[in-house]
Amino acid sequence: MSKGWNGRPPVGRIAYVDGRYVGHGSAGVHIEDRGFQLGDGVYEVCAVVDGALMDEAEHLDRLVRSVGEIEMAMPMPRNALKLVMREVVRRNGVRDGLLYLQVTRGAVRRDHPIPDTQPRPSLVITARGWDAGAMAKRRADGIAVISAPDERWGRVDIKTVQLLPNLLAKTAARRAGAYEAWLVDRDGMVTEGSSTTAWIVDAQGRLTTRDLTNAILPGVTRRVILEAAATAQLPVRERAFSLPDALKAKEAFISSATGVIPVTRIDGTQIGDGKPGPLTRRVQELYEAESGRRAKGLSS
Ligand code: PDD
Repeated sequence: MSKGWNGRPPVGRIAYVDGRYVGHGSAGVHIEDRGFQLGDGVYEVCAVVDGALMDEAEHLDRLVRSVGEIEMAMPMPRNALKLVMREVVRRNGVRDGLLYLQVTRGAVRRDHPIPDTQPRPSLVITARGWDAGAMAKRRADGIAVISAPDERWGRVDIKTVQLLPNLLAKTAARRAGAYEAWLVDRDGMVTEGSSTTAWIVDAQGRLTTRDLTNAILPGVTRRVILEAAATAQLPVRERAFSLPDALKAKEAFISSATGVIPVTRIDGTQIGDGKPGPLTRRVQELYEAESGRRAKGLSS
């Protein structure tokens, strides 16, 4: 901790809200913001590694897609947004942590239909450091997950701020002493984690994750892992797997902007030998090497 910050870590202090950098404590949007009232908005979360935004282009691509899918305009041109994102990271002195970006349809008198004349979208960006110790421990030791019914809507490929089913499932997991909940659809197939992509290593040793449809979020980390796995010639299968498949998997893990985390128990059942598996370790190494390269601005 540097002396200049009066003993407090230099993180989470400045937010960007609609064109201004403001103190985090006093930052706010209008009470009639449609994001606040109706969940009418989308978001992105990017990791910050060594002061650099990870997979910035992929996150911006997904944001542009999400915004388009709900007939909203981007709040500013992409290049300008990039500058603001970097400035939020810089102003908050974040070396390793997360950037949160939210675009909502803006403030207008409450009514359900999308207004013919749309208000100016609201843009909020924050950044904060993460608990590196806790993160490292999860990555090293693995985590437990529980299963929960997937009670979300039919377009979870759009990264909307409407996260009630996700947060209820996550809360159930935490109360059960687990870290994440794997959501299971009506056919008994795992869709994804409440805020992560779900992976197993099947009986044939193949890295397996659900194929991209409207039933899951197209994870940026998922994509980076698939590319790295292809380069490393690891066997991969993009296909739905059931909860029983997961329970008898050789290995399991989750991925998201917070990295690759081994899963060692599902609903109390030990996965493999109960320790992070070799393929999971390999994926962690590949992803971390790729993150390091990207953080230094080198492409693979
Ligand atoms: N969550 N699936 C869901 C439902 C998610 O919310 C996320 C990301 C992912 C992984 O996507 P990515 O690899 O692009 O981070 C999968 C973020 C981290 C969040 O809501 O905080």
